[in-house]
Amino acid sequence: MKTVTIRHNSAESHVTGQSVFVNDMEISSSQLVGRVVYSPLAHGIITQLDYSEALNMPDVAAILSAKDIPGHNQMGPVVKDEPCLAWPETMFIGQAILLIAAETMDAAIRAEKMIRIQIEPLETTLSLHSAIEKELLIAPPAFIRSGDAESAINLAPYTFDGILETGSQEHWYLETQSALAVPGEGKEMMVFASSQNPSETQTIVAEVLGIPKHLVDVEVKRLGGAFGGKETQANHVAAWASLLAQATGKPVKMHLFRDDDQLMTGKRHRFLSKYRIGFDKTGLILAYIVELNSDAGATTDLSLAILERAMLHAENAYFIPNISITGKAYRTNLPPNTAFRGFGGPQGMAVIENAIDRIARFLEMDPAMVRKRNFYGFERNRVTPYGKEITNNRLHVIFERLTESSEYFQRRVEIQGFNNKHKYQKRGIALTPVKFGISFTTAFLNQAGALVHIFNDGSVQVNHGGTEMGQGLHSKMIGVTADALGISPDRVRVTPTSTSKVPNTSATAASSGSDLNGMAIKHAAETLKHRLIPIAVQLLVSMGCKEAKAENLIFERNLIFDKYFPDFSIRFEQMAETAWKNQISLSSTGFYKTPNLLFDRKTGKGNPFYYYAYGMAVSEVELDVLTGAYTLLRTDILHDVGDSLNEDIDIGQIEGAFIQGVGWCTREEIKWNEKGFLLTHSPDTYKIPTINDIPVDFRVSLLRDFPNEGTIRKSKAVGEPPFMLAFSVWLAIKDAISAVRQHRVEPAFTLPTTPEFVLLSMEALKNE
Ligand code: MTE
Ligand code: HPA
Ligand code: MOS
Repeated sequence: MKTVTIRHNSAESHVTGQSVFVNDMEISSSQLVGRVVYSPLAHGIITQLDYSEALNMPDVAAILSAKDIPGHNQMGPVVKDEPCLAWPETMFIGQAILLIAAETMDAAIRAEKMIRIQIEPLETTLSLHSAIEKELLIAPPAFIRSGDAESAINLAPYTFDGILETGSQEHWYLETQSALAVPGEGKEMMVFASSQNPSETQTIVAEVLGIPKHLVDVEVKRLGGAFGGKETQANHVAAWASLLAQATGKPVKMHLFRDDDQLMTGKRHRFLSKYRIGFDKTGLILAYIVELNSDAGATTDLSLAILERAMLHAENAYFIPNISITGKAYRTNLPPNTAFRGFGGPQGMAVIENAIDRIARFLEMDPAMVRKRNFYGFERNRVTPYGKEITNNRLHVIFERLTESSEYFQRRVEIQGFNNKHKYQKRGIALTPVKFGISFTTAFLNQAGALVHIFNDGSVQVNHGGTEMGQGLHSKMIGVTADALGISPDRVRVTPTSTSKVPNTSATAASSGSDLNGMAIKHAAETLKHRLIPIAVQLLVSMGCKEAKAENLIFERNLIFDKYFPDFSIRFEQMAETAWKNQISLSSTGFYKTPNLLFDRKTGKGNPFYYYAYGMAVSEVELDVLTGAYTLLRTDILHDVGDSLNEDIDIGQIEGAFIQGVGWCTREEIKWNEKGFLLTHSPDTYKIPTINDIPVDFRVSLLRDFPNEGTIRKSKAVGEPPFMLAFSVWLAIKDAISAVRQHRVEPAFTLPTTPEFVLLSMEALKNE
């Protein structure tokens, strides 16, 4: 296999400061700044909106409310239940009510202070508990079932009941939500966005402006991080900036302050999950009943798709013959929660991983052995709760290799010895697996397009539907293009993602950016090669290579030659120029759709995923018994990316996803006050992992020699799956807590296990 390993194509421009982000863009000297005035109340009816004084302030160009929206006052991506500007009802603190365009941010803030808004308060629902109590479902419950879980639980030798709460998480992309809207002739609107989903941004902008999509162009050069937070909610700033740009006739830039961004935007869904699990004395799981309840926030956003992915990952890597999975999403008066790396997968998996840990403690077995005992099998036990057969199962090989390379079993014995000797420090270790389904579960979204231009000097531009958010997609796509055309990567440039180059695209999400766009690029390149081959044969023949044949041509190292006559070759640029002079088109589109996907929401059955990505991690922690603080001593990861498209980038993705997961599992805590005001709205109160949270000894390896047939260069998606490897840290912490009572008592547990929680859990154990 040929591998073109190239550096991240923005590496140099990022460190030299040359990389352009939306907030760096200055289109004209008449450019205005936009600002959002948002609801200070979690739920109410607006009774008065007075901004006449503010509008008369110097340097204020426009103030818009819902009644000034020329198109539809709505920006819900799937369900049209999310107004662009609130009127008359406000549904959460941070919901946009008014938009201000001004010459400077200072002027906008001064104007904002002159505005009077009166809101008549209505009943609020701020906790998931109370939403469940009030039965505020946003949609009917969903089910996935297989076997007969109720009867099997009743027959099982042992059963547990439990509740697990998993917390929310702020995306904390470095670049906050930003957009620059530039009005053109007539009603044309050009939007420079920081959006994972340029086509949907185009749709929403067109809808609020009340114009057809062909008048709206959306361009995305790069995002300064997204993590799902810009899959739908980057549409908002784009829509707001466009409304102001249309109203003023001037370019308007909107760039949210960090505190506003955190207050206004949705986050990872909190879940409250209830389960019953039945098992035998060998640790074999016989039945599992789980109800996943999520906090959707005030509007639907992607909550139903996220809940569905949670349900589709409720069994993680384990074959459970009798299973009943219920999913419910509830409305609260908080910002609409949204996509976040893993897209519900982490929330679904956390429950079974914790339940298995309980089983192991109860049976006094090693949790890793209970996991292995329940893994999906090769011959038998391979059907998922939704009826898809698992093929190419990598769980067993990863388990064997990782337990060996991490010396898991020896270290468990050593840790026992350490814990016997130390009263104030306790160590814990855990191994956890991930099996993550790759594809959008909304099957039609699994499509992508590309546009490849060869210039007559032999250099190449590629455009595709995916967006670059730091994950290295463009670098991978340069590799794919170079490989497909047999040219060196430095001849290929990826141009900014643009709705006018590749239309009707899906979000860069579900980790499938390189799978989908890579194939589309390959198809475009193949079309071009097909057109170029006759020219190349002609050129070779005219050079004296009389027997050159189309079917034997090789494109490699910037050359084209017949594999039987490698002494004759033509240069790629020579071929491009000759083709041009022969009036042959040097530009082609490409398209790809993932084959055979289907998931029937009504029956809870189908084939929602093209394949699975697998990984496993072993983590060891040390707890300070007096403070609850922990140190992550060592993590070993073995992760499956098929044949990597770019090893350095993939390892970076694994490390980053894992640490982001560690933040969710152990550090990050979102708190609101009793009125629904976000207390943790800036980095002084909201703590994402820092360099100190990286394992002291961090060993990340890729599973070698397991190509993934049927994808671009036999690779696998990598963006999200390693997030869930952080459960190894979470459960290592639990293992260490439970060492306080020699693993004889099940400790209180939750997610995140902040040092405060860990301390309380240990104290409670001591008093048992
Ligand atoms: N990596 C970086 N550096 N920044 C990001 O915003 N987003 C993640 C992941 N890795 C993200 C990232 C998420 S949520 C997804 S779905 C994938 O990247 C999307 O890109 P891909 O499909 O090209 O992997
Ligand atoms: N992942 C991410 N985004 C999505 C999905 C998904 O499975 N389905 C719809 N949007
Ligand atoms: Mo990723 S949560 O699918 O943007």
